[in-house]
Parts: sequence; structure tokens; C-alpha cells
Amino acid sequence: MATSVEGIAHELNLENVDPLPEDFDPTGVIKDPLPPLVNDSRVGVNVEGNGEVKKEREIVLGRNVHTMCLEVTEPEADDEVTGEREAYMASVLARYRKSLLERTKHHLGYPYNLDFDYGALGQLQHFSINNLGDPFIESNYGVHSRQFEVGVLDWFARLWELEKNEYWGYITNCGTEGNLHGILVGREVFPDGILYASCDTHYSIFKAARMYRMEFEKVNTLTSGEIDCKDLKAKLLCHQDKPAIINVNIGTTVKGAVDDLDLVIKTLKESGFNDDRFYIHCDGALFGLMMPFVKRAPKVSFKKPIGSVSVSGHKFVGCPMPCGVQITRLEHISALSSNVEYLASRDATIMGSRNGHAPIFLWYTLNRKGYRGFQKEVKKCLKNAHYLKDRLRDAGIGVMLNELSSTVVFERPHDEEFVRKWQLACQGNIAHVVVMPNITVEKLDKFLAELIGKRAVWYKNGTFQSPCVASELGNENCFCGLHK
Ligand SMILES: Cc1ncc(COP(=O)(O)O)c(C=O)c1O
Repeated sequence: MATSVEGIAHELNLENVDPLPEDFDPTGVIKDPLPPLVNDSRVGVNVEGNGEVKKEREIVLGRNVHTMCLEVTEPEADDEVTGEREAYMASVLARYRKSLLERTKHHLGYPYNLDFDYGALGQLQHFSINNLGDPFIESNYGVHSRQFEVGVLDWFARLWELEKNEYWGYITNCGTEGNLHGILVGREVFPDGILYASCDTHYSIFKAARMYRMEFEKVNTLTSGEIDCKDLKAKLLCHQDKPAIINVNIGTTVKGAVDDLDLVIKTLKESGFNDDRFYIHCDGALFGLMMPFVKRAPKVSFKKPIGSVSVSGHKFVGCPMPCGVQITRLEHISALSSNVEYLASRDATIMGSRNGHAPIFLWYTLNRKGYRGFQKEVKKCLKNAHYLKDRLRDAGIGVMLNELSSTVVFERPHDEEFVRKWQLACQGNIAHVVVMPNITVEKLDKFLAELIGKRAVWYKNGTFQSPCVASELGNENCFCGLHK
């Protein structure tokens, strides 16, 4: 067996390779690559009465993730031989998988469709697929999935009625990125424009306003959560000298309210803003893929004077990783894009590297379900949402469901443990369940039975009372002591 350097060089046919410079020491790496352990300043020290030192982490917001973190430990020198590390990691992953199954079973509060099977795509896990740059201009990184990405974009452009040669878009990392892009396009079209968004708007729009240092007007909402067009008009009339950039919600985060796009356009026109003086971005992160299939919903269409639409791919569509779709008019994009020589592509996106797996997941699910499949799922979600609303109301629980929505908003459960178990999103006195395709009547029945049973205990002897939700949901939807 060849063990000498010469022998190895001969085996690898390296004899003709230029020698390394004499002062190059190939073993000259840092001796001990382990960085020193850092003191964990996240934990405070608390001396108990018995003198025992107990570490506590100050909880600022949310839960204390670091108390349950899985430490990364350094492999022992002989781990490779014993396989102990592999076995340890396999057991951690198996336990994690089990906990995911459990958490998935009790998931109601976030608008994520967890009903999917992408087993066929497992074979692609071995590839580092990256669509960095423009979806329509191939870069010199060959391991990409642009062919899937453009297919998906075409599908959405057709849904929102924009011709293939008139649209530009890309698959984003999430709905937030779509919003950041949509507002950026609006600002590039109207650099001195004022951004208008309702107070029930997702925080990503407020983030965009801060990032781009835009002048900003917050518009009131109705009890339903929809933008109040009377207030919008009043605010537009105060700034007639500057163009308007408006965010229209196709489903608000908390109440699932759908802004009336047609009324927003009418309000703009009545306030003296012609098509060339406003830019509308539609935030369809939540219901962007549901509303096209609901008869009475205001139609989101590029036949109307809108500039962009975005949607999240991991919500109603049901992608297992966060992603989204952003579509805008091609004419707006040239101002925003620049050539990047080292990519040999153009860049008009927000991020650099882009997840190349996501387009394949989207392509796969769109192909399987098609427009008709999504329509069926929308119908089921709306039906189940009505079922939940009716059962809550029957049980005397304050509840509201917007007509075009599958977000059922109701009084916040008294017990945080219950909230955590069912992963309900809460704000003030209200909580919500977003009925997605994976949420069945059986699951809702389980949830209802547990909630009704717990309420009987929480409010049994009058120490606690169910919260008043009149200011959030309206008097007619509140069943507290005062309003029932
Ligand atoms: C209305 C709305 N817009 C934007 C977003 C952000 O989407 P993402 O979580 O995909 O970034 C959300 C998230 O829930 C949302 O509800």
C-alpha cells in the first residue's frame, strides 16, 4: 500500500502539479480550534434560602427557549470509531420528530396548512439548490430550479390576471419579503410617495416604512378589521400634493379581514388621485390564494390599477418551509434592478441567495391540486370556520367571523397553558383559530370540548369572569356579564 507522500502523489496523479511555496505550511492551522466557553449572560444568578445557587433567565418576551436548547458538543476523538455520536444524534432527532407530531396535532392558531406529503421530493435533499439573482435570467450557478420557479410564477400571474410578458416576480423567503419588495417597488415608482396602511396591517409593512424611511399614515379600521375608507379619504385629502402608496390587506393577521380593494380605488379617485398618482400593494400573505375562489370577495386582479401582490407559500398553499410569491408589473422592475457581474444575472430581489427547494415544493403542490383543488379546500375551510363559530356561540363564548374569512376570533382563554397547548395566537382579550385545510371537524370538536370543559372550571365560582370583547369584536359578538 502506498503510504509515502510520493506514493500518494503518484496515486492521485499529482506529480505534475506546481509545488507549494516553501513558506506554505499545510499543517499550519490553528492548534486548538475550540473557541473558549462563554459565560451565559442570559441567565441571572439567584441564591436560594438554603444557599443553593439557582440560575434563572430573565424572561422578557415569549418563552425561555434557551432553557431547553440542545447544546452543540464537540465530538470525542474516537467518536467516528464507536458511532456513539451518530447514535446520540439519531435519538435526539427521533425524539424531536415525536414532539413535532404531537405539536402538529394541537396546532390551531397559525395559518399554516400542515396537510401535505412531499415524500417524492426527498431525493432532492442532497442538492444545494439556490436561485440567487433574477428568476428569468440564468446565473452562472447551475444548481438552480428556475424552470420550476418560472412555472409557479406563471400560475400565479394567471390567477391574478397578468399576461406572461407583462409580469415580473420571484419566489421569496416569506410573505414579509413580498411586502418589503412590494413597498420598495411602490417607493421606486413614487420616491416622494406617502405610505398608507391600516392599523390592523401586519408589522412587515411598518417595518418597510422604517427601513425605507418613508412618510407614513396609519389608517383606522372598522370593527371587522377592514380599512376604514372614510378615514383613508380624510388622510388622503390632507396630502394631495404627494403620491399615495397603499397597502391593501387580503386578510389581516388577527381578524382575517379583507380590505375592499374596489372601495380603496374608488376612495383614491374621489380624493383626486388618478392612476398615475398611486401605487397599490396587495398583502395577500394570508388569504391571497383563498380569495380568488370566494364568490363575493373583492377580486384581486392586475386588470385593476394595482402594482403588486404577494402571498405566503407556507400558509394556505402548504409548503413545509417558509416561502412566498411576489408578482408585480414588469414595467416597474427596470428601475429597481441592477446587473451583477459575478452572478452574470440581474438582481431586483431583496435577498441574495434564494431557496431553490421552495419553488419545487410549490410547483409540486400546485400541480397536484390545481385551481380546482384549491377551490375545494377553500370551501371546506370556510365551512369548518362557520362550524367553529356556531359551536362557540352556542356555548355562549364571544366570537366573530368575517364573511370572507376562515379566521375565527373569540375571547382569549383564561389559562395560558391551554393557549400554549393549542398554539393560539392572542392579542389583548382575543384569540383566534385560523381554519386551514388540515383542520378537521373532529379536531375542532376536540378543541371545543376541552375549551368548554375548562371554562366551566375557570369561571365556576365567579372569582374570574370571561373577558369582555365588545371593543374588539363589537357588542353583538360579546357574551360577557355586561353584554349577554
Ligand atoms: C397579513 C399578513 N401579512 C404578512 C405576513 C407575513 O408573512 P410571513 O410570516 O410569511 O413573513 C403575515 C403573517 O402572518 C400576515 O398575516
